[in-house]
Amino acid sequence: MRTDIGQVFKLEDYRPSDYLIPETVLTFRLSPENTIVVARLSVERREAVDPSTPLVLAGDGPMRLTRVAVDGRPLAEQDYAATQESLTITRLPSARRFTLEIETQLAPAQNEALMGLYRSNGVYCTQCEAEGFRRIAYFLDRPDVLSVYTVRIEALRSDAPLLLSNGNPVESGDLPGGRHYAIWHDPFPKPSYLFALVAGDLGVIRDSFVTMSGRTVELGIYVEHGKERLAHYAMDALKRSMKWDEEVFGCEYDLDVFNIVAVSDFNMGAMENKGLNIFNDKYVLADQETATDADFANIEAIIAHEYFHNWTGNRITCRDWFQLCLKEGLTVFRDHEFSADQRSRAVKRIAEVRTLRAHQFPEDQGPLAHPVRPRRYREINNFYTATVYEKGSEVVRMIRTVLGAETFRQGMDLYFLRHDGQAVTIEDFLKAFEDVSGRDLSQFALWYHQAGTPNLAVSSSYDAAAREFVIDIEQSVPPTPSESRKRLMHIPLAFGLVGPDGKDIVATAVEGATVEGGVIHVRKRQHSVRFSGIEARPALSLNRGFSAPVTLSATQGDDDLFFLASHDSDEYARWQAFNTLLTDALINAYRLLLGGKTPVLAPRLGRLAGKIAGDTSLEEAYRALALTLPGEADIARDIGKNIDPDAVFTARRAIAVAIARENKEMFSSLYRDLHAEGAFSPDAASAGRRALRNVLLDFLSLLDGGAGLALSHFHAATNMTDRAAALTVLAHVHHGSPQAVEALAAFEKRYAADPLVMDKWFQIQAGVPGPQTVESVRALMRHPAFSTTNPNRLRALVGTFSSANQTGFHRADGEGYRLWAETILEVEKRNPQMAARLATALRSWRSLDPQRQAKAREALLRIAATGNLSADLKDIVERTLA
Ligand code: PHE
Ligand code: ZN
Repeated sequence: MRTDIGQVFKLEDYRPSDYLIPETVLTFRLSPENTIVVARLSVERREAVDPSTPLVLAGDGPMRLTRVAVDGRPLAEQDYAATQESLTITRLPSARRFTLEIETQLAPAQNEALMGLYRSNGVYCTQCEAEGFRRIAYFLDRPDVLSVYTVRIEALRSDAPLLLSNGNPVESGDLPGGRHYAIWHDPFPKPSYLFALVAGDLGVIRDSFVTMSGRTVELGIYVEHGKERLAHYAMDALKRSMKWDEEVFGCEYDLDVFNIVAVSDFNMGAMENKGLNIFNDKYVLADQETATDADFANIEAIIAHEYFHNWTGNRITCRDWFQLCLKEGLTVFRDHEFSADQRSRAVKRIAEVRTLRAHQFPEDQGPLAHPVRPRRYREINNFYTATVYEKGSEVVRMIRTVLGAETFRQGMDLYFLRHDGQAVTIEDFLKAFEDVSGRDLSQFALWYHQAGTPNLAVSSSYDAAAREFVIDIEQSVPPTPSESRKRLMHIPLAFGLVGPDGKDIVATAVEGATVEGGVIHVRKRQHSVRFSGIEARPALSLNRGFSAPVTLSATQGDDDLFFLASHDSDEYARWQAFNTLLTDALINAYRLLLGGKTPVLAPRLGRLAGKIAGDTSLEEAYRALALTLPGEADIARDIGKNIDPDAVFTARRAIAVAIARENKEMFSSLYRDLHAEGAFSPDAASAGRRALRNVLLDFLSLLDGGAGLALSHFHAATNMTDRAAALTVLAHVHHGSPQAVEALAAFEKRYAADPLVMDKWFQIQAGVPGPQTVESVRALMRHPAFSTTNPNRLRALVGTFSSANQTGFHRADGEGYRLWAETILEVEKRNPQMAARLATALRSWRSLDPQRQAKAREALLRIAATGNLSADLKDIVERTLA
C-alpha cells in the first residue's frame, strides 16, 4: 500500500519567523452558530527581513474570513490570498511595525473535533495546543511567536454569565440586548497554543493562596452547577502543588488569579493555558461515592502537572514542536516528584515503572518508535506519546542521577533564570546543566535523540580466593524505524552488592567504569567492573530505583532473586526481584501450556507471595502492588513474539489460582483484618489498605465461593474503590454468573445519571476476557449512556476493549479488529485526534501469532484504503504498517 505521504516537518528545517506579533487584541462575539472573532495584531517585521517578504499566517478548519485590514485600511483583493490553511499578505507597509486586523466567523456548536473554539455541554471553551489557535483566527501559530494578549469576550448574559480568559480580569459590564462583556489581560507574552477562553453558566468553588513573596492569588475551580462539592479535592491538590513548587523548585505563581474549568468533552487529560487551565472533568470531580483511589491520585497528579507547566512550558516554552519533551518530560518529572512527596516514594516509583513498561516500552519496541525529541513528524498531535512524556521524564530523572540532586537544582535555577520569557530547545536545557556541573553531556544527550529501549546484558562472578566480585555489562540499543545503527549511550545504572546478612556491602570498584555513589556509568559497549576485598559472594541488586529506562538481561539465579525479594534495601529493586520471579513463572506457565502441559507454580514462590502479603514492615500499598501479577500485556511484551493471547490468559489465571490456593488461610484472615473502619479518607495510607484488601479479593475470588465473596464485597462497599473492585472481579472472573448480573444491574441503576461513573461500568465490561466481549461491546455501544462523540465514553468502552482486553480484542477470527476499524472510521469523520489515538492499539501487531497478524493487517489495510483520511489517522496507520 502506498498513498501519498503528506507533508513531513523536519527539525533541521527550523527557521525563525520573519514576522513577530508582540501584541494581540482579540474580540469574541460569541454565539453557537456564528461567533465573530476580531484579531487586532501588532505585527513586527524582524530586522533585516526584506519588506517585500509576504506575511503568511496559518489557518485551519471551517472558518470564514470576512475582513482583512492593515493599519485600519481594508486590503484590496489582489493584496492577499486566503485558503483554509493560510492567509498570505503580499502587500505590506514598508514600516517595520503595523497593525493587522482580521475578522473571522466560526460555528463553535458544529465543532466536533474539539480543537479550536467549541461547545461542551453548552459551555464555550477552547483547546489550542498544538495547532488549534489557527482554527479560531489566522495567526503565526507557532510556539516561538510570543504575544501579549488582551481579550474581550461578549455573550448573552443568560447563556454565558461567566466569561473567562487568560491573565487577570480588567473590566466587565453590560451591553444592549441582554449581552455583556469582560476584558482580560495577560501581561506574560505567550505562544498562541496557551490561549484559552471559557464562557458559560457554571458553578464555582473559590479559595486563595498566599505566595512565598506574600501575594494573594484568587483561585477558582469551575464545574457544572450542582457538582461544586466534587471539586474540593482538586482545590486542595492545587494549593499543595503551589506550595510544593515554591519549596522544591523555587517557582512562584505570577498572576492575581488562577482558574481551572472542568469540561465534559475533552480529547486529553487537561491543558495548561496560562492562568486558565481547562480540564477533562474526569480529572477534577471526585468524592468517595463516585471516584476510586486511582482517580484521586490522578486528579492530584494532573492538577499538579498543569499547574507546574506555568514555569516549565509557559514562562519558558518550546521553540518548536520537536521540543515538546522540553515541557512535557520535565513537567511529568516534576509531577512524579510531587506525588512521591505527597504519598509513598517507593510505591509511586513502582507504579511509574509499571506504567512506563506498559505504555512506553511497547511503543519504543514497535513501528511507532521515535526519539524523545523526534526529528520528523507529519502530524504533531500524534507525538503526545508515552515516549515524549514518560521516557522524557525518565531522562530528566537521569540528569539528576548523573549530577546529584543539588547540582540538578542549580541547573534548574540557571535554566529558569537564563530562559524566562523565551522559547527554547533541548540543547538550551542541557546547556544549563553542563554549565553548572562542568560536565559534558553530549553522550548523555543521545537519550533525547535516539529511539529504542537500550538493553544491558549483565553477568557477575565471584572469586572467593581473590575475594573479588566482577560485574560484566554489555550495552546494546535495538534498531528502530529509520534508525538502524545506534550509538553507545551513557546509562547510569544504580546497583548494590547485598551481603549474606542482607546488608549492603560498601565496596569500591578497582577498575572497569566510573562508579559514583552506587551508580555505574555505562558508556562503552562493554564494561567489566571489578570490586576487591569482598568477603562473601554478594547478591547483585541492579537498576536500583529504576535509575535507567532500560531492559536487563541478567543471568541471575532464582536463589539470588528470592534473596533480594526479601532483603534488598532498595524498595524498588526488592519489588523488581519479586516481579521478575513472577514474570518468569508466568512465561514458564505459558510455555508449558503451549507444549500441552499443565502449568505449575514453584511452592516457594507461592509462599513468598504470602510472606509479602503479611509483612507488616512493608506499606500496604507496596504489598498490594507486589501482589498484582504482571498483566497479560506485560507478559506478552516479555515473551516478545508469536504471541497467543489466549494462552497468556490461561497461564496467568493458572498461576493466580495456584497462589490463591497456596495462601488461602492467610489471605482470608488478612482480608478480614483489613476491613475498613471509620470515615473515608482518600489519603495514601487508607488507599493502600483498600488496595491490599482488593488484591486479596482478586485472589480469593478465584477459589470456591469466590462469586459470593465478591458480591458481598460489592454490597458492603462504602466507596467507589471497593465497589468497582468487586464489580471488576464479578464481571471478569465470574462473567455471566447470577452475582455478576446482579451487581452490574445494581451499579447501572445507581449511577445511570452520572456519565463519569457509567464510564467505569462501560470500562469494566469492555475488559471482560474472552471471545464474547466483542459482541457485548457492540451492544453497549447502543446503550443510551454511550456516545462516540464524547472522548471519555469512547475511551472507556472502545479504548479499553482495544488496548486493555487481550483475549477479547485479539479474538482469533479478527472480529475484535473489525469492530475497532469500524469505530475508528466512524469517529475520524468528526474527531481525527481521537481516531488516531484508538488506532495506536495495534502498534504491537507484529508480535502476535501469524494468524492474528494476518487479521490485524487486514484491519489496518482496510483503514488505510479508505479515501480522504485525516492526516492524524493516516500517519498512525501508515507508520504502523510500514
Ligand atoms: N499539554 C497538555 C498536558 O500535558 C496535554 C494536551 C495536549 C492537552 C494537546 C490538549 C491538547 O499537559
Ligand atoms: Zn503536560
